[in-house]
Amino acid sequence: MDNRAIGVYDSGFGGLSVWDELRRRLPHESLVYLGDGKNCPYGGRAKEEIAAFAFEAVERLVAEGVKMVVVGCNTATTAAIAELRERWPDMPIVGLEPAVKPACIGSRTRRIAVLATEHSLRSDMFLATASRYASDVEVLKVVGEDFVELVEEGMEQSEAATIAVDRVVRPLLNEGVDKIVLGCTHYPFLRPLIERVVAGCGIDVIDSGEAVARRVEWLLERYDIAASGDNEAYYSFISFADEAYRERLERRAKVLMQR
Ligand code: DGL
Repeated sequence: MDNRAIGVYDSGFGGLSVWDELRRRLPHESLVYLGDGKNCPYGGRAKEEIAAFAFEAVERLVAEGVKMVVVGCNTATTAAIAELRERWPDMPIVGLEPAVKPACIGSRTRRIAVLATEHSLRSDMFLATASRYASDVEVLKVVGEDFVELVEEGMEQSEAATIAVDRVVRPLLNEGVDKIVLGCTHYPFLRPLIERVVAGCGIDVIDSGEAVARRVEWLLERYDIAASGDNEAYYSFISFADEAYRERLERRAKVLMQR
């Protein structure tokens, strides 16, 4: 038994989609969420730069006394997960990867689309995953242009978001894909708009949130560090941006909890 918190990290608000899955599945686990905010978006940056942000973030979470870190950011995972695990070999560190495997297994048309940031899509890690699981499946790589910025601004229900999603997703309707994988943790916040575009077209939208929560649960058991059944979980929020940003993180999380 270990009642210390789990750290969850993202470039900004996106990891809250993972945070939400974790808190639903593991109600006794306390969570410390670090949304960088100062350096977001990561997606167009160089690997070394993103890796440096990720190191700073995990260092901070370790200083907060967490027992495990979930890198709730596909981009940071592709840039740094191996190095993070090397630096903190005694602490489980979970990364986020696009759900390419289940999408490929379930695809009838043998064509899928992966929506992610520019960095994630050109990373060695993504290319390796795609070649492992998608040898007989065509994978269309699509950057969700402006998606991260819209979610950061809290504009996921706006006209601008509807237009941005339409611009990215509608062309996929002519591509014969039957799965759209959300390979960036910001994108699930736009899921209702994405689903509206693909409605009635036989296309499933898949993200990694639930799978990651399951993986975390498994690791807690395996390392024997799950919180006790009577632990009253707390949720705290930190950021490298200003206090106003941190408060917005907290407010967003509250909205998710009320759903
Ligand atoms: N939420 C992040 C991801 O999962 C990164 C978004 C960004 O900062 O560009 O890829």
